[in-house]
Amino acid sequence: MAEVTEADWAGLRAAATEVMSRAYAPYSNFKVGAAGLVDDGRVVVGCNVENAAYGVALCAECGMVSALHAGGGGRLVAVVCVDQHGNTLMACGRCRQLLWENGGPGLLVETVSGIKPMTEVLPDAFGPDDLVSRA
Ligand code: THU
Repeated sequence: MAEVTEADWAGLRAAATEVMSRAYAPYSNFKVGAAGLVDDGRVVVGCNVENAAYGVALCAECGMVSALHAGGGGRLVAVVCVDQHGNTLMACGRCRQLLWENGGPGLLVETVSGIKPMTEVLPDAFGPDDLVSRA
């Protein structure tokens, strides 16, 4: 897929902010939205969904990855995650692992310190290759 343009980033930010407004976060009151550009041009989104059993909460990135596969699969090439104010939010550790699995080292992520590849967001990541090379 071609390079990720400024328009792509703006579209991802808008999509993440919109889906954030539909988050179900009655326990933390911390709404999160995530949007990802797929290598076929689709945009997939997700919001966090909490539960009375607090530990069952699903992060926004988790919903986005589910939408990726439910909508036909593919690879993430660019991701934006925002908080309730529409400001860039760093993915939690678990979600960085989800992003690595579904985008790999070249996936670009908008971080609080600029756009970075996953190799910088999750250095020396464990991933699918390890299951083969270390078998
Ligand atoms: N949350 C996300 O959705 N994504 C992250 O990367 C960080 C945290 C959610 C989970 C929970 O519903 C709320 O933010 C507060 O932790």
